[in-house]
Amino acid sequence: MIREAGHGFGHPHDVHDPAGGLAGCRSQFPALGTSVGGRPAVFLDGPGGTQVPVSVVEAINEYLLQRNANSHGLFATSRASDEGVEHARSRFAAFFRAESASEIAFGANMTTLNFHLARNIARDLAPGDEVVITELDHEANRAPWLALREQGIVVREVRVDPATCQLDLLDFGGKIGPRTRVVAVGAASNAVGTVNDLGAIRQLAQGAGALLVVDAVHFVPHLPVDVRAIGCDFLLCSAYKFFGPHIGVLYGRRAAFERLRCHKVLPQDDAIPFRLETGTPNFEGIAGAAAALDFIGGLGGPSAIAAYEDQLVARLRAGLATVPGVQLWQAPAEAPKTPTVAFTMNTLDAPAIARRLGDEGIFAWDGDFYATTLVKRLGLAARGGLVRLGLAPYNTMDEVDRTIAAVAKLASEGAGAQ
Ligand SMILES: Cc1ncc(COP(=O)(O)O)c(C=O)c1O
Repeated sequence: MIREAGHGFGHPHDVHDPAGGLAGCRSQFPALGTSVGGRPAVFLDGPGGTQVPVSVVEAINEYLLQRNANSHGLFATSRASDEGVEHARSRFAAFFRAESASEIAFGANMTTLNFHLARNIARDLAPGDEVVITELDHEANRAPWLALREQGIVVREVRVDPATCQLDLLDFGGKIGPRTRVVAVGAASNAVGTVNDLGAIRQLAQGAGALLVVDAVHFVPHLPVDVRAIGCDFLLCSAYKFFGPHIGVLYGRRAAFERLRCHKVLPQDDAIPFRLETGTPNFEGIAGAAAALDFIGGLGGPSAIAAYEDQLVARLRAGLATVPGVQLWQAPAEAPKTPTVAFTMNTLDAPAIARRLGDEGIFAWDGDFYATTLVKRLGLAARGGLVRLGLAPYNTMDEVDRTIAAVAKLASEGAGAQ
């Protein structure tokens, strides 16, 4: 875990050496030197995309300045380019505990990869076949499946319970039937931080013989991913949410991936994972994504990150809960959550809160963050949605305290004006 005292962090069994504690971690992010009105900026916008450490930028530079060439050429830079991609696949395979590097594919971003995946899976579906999605998910894990209605696929939506911000597992069971072919679900909600019970959901999907597609975009890097323990067929994430550049990553379980009939151009290799990778890869982005995993390893891995973030988020939740007029939108206390806190206030709408925080140098997102259906179910669409505070390993307790104080100040001004 990262300690405020800066004595280093990391569990005894972590692969990488400690990187110098919190101060060491922060020193790798030049953007943290930003100030607004003379006050240091507080970056709580991580769920929309984290800041990027120098090592990742250097890896991207190194690729473009030293190894830049298209693939499959019979010369040094092209070989180096291909080697870089294979290195990154191996790194992601290890990170996800996949069986082999050939189960890892890269693409433009999660949304584009997921549309591609859904279109390809649908080639082997028949009208009347069913896909199950959820009201809690980001639209990137809804729209690709909803689009299949055009070809007669029945898409069923699992209910979110607005009182708990959790999926209704009874409803989940009821939505799955003998014609369910795909269950598409998030590992964690990017809006309210709910971590879904993937064990229960896997059982439901497997019971129906359906493919399980998991959107892990908000889950990585807050919690470790083990694709075999999850038992998913496909899992997607996006490197810019974990210190990398803007590139999407897909895991496909070998047997499921090999059955996937992909739309592809004639010369494209039909072996996995190449069959899914249309066009020229984003070589520099792939290099940066691999470097992002090295950075995470240097922090002690996702478990160490989670241990640190848990301390910060416990204080943030407890502090906000004491502010009059603030309502937290989150799963019950004992339920697992990411360090992402969503709230509203009775005196100000979300955009007004985010603007005021922004003026104070506290960077927070407002709106629905493309969890559009959830925000409608919460009844917040007309009020500008939620304010979202997302913690990352470069955040500090002082920043948490400053944020609580800023929200409390807004609340007291609002109360005075009423
Ligand atoms: C949970 C979740 N899923 C999917 C996406 C879409 O990812 P991308 O921007 O890589 O398409 C996001 C982006 O915010 C997200 O938070």
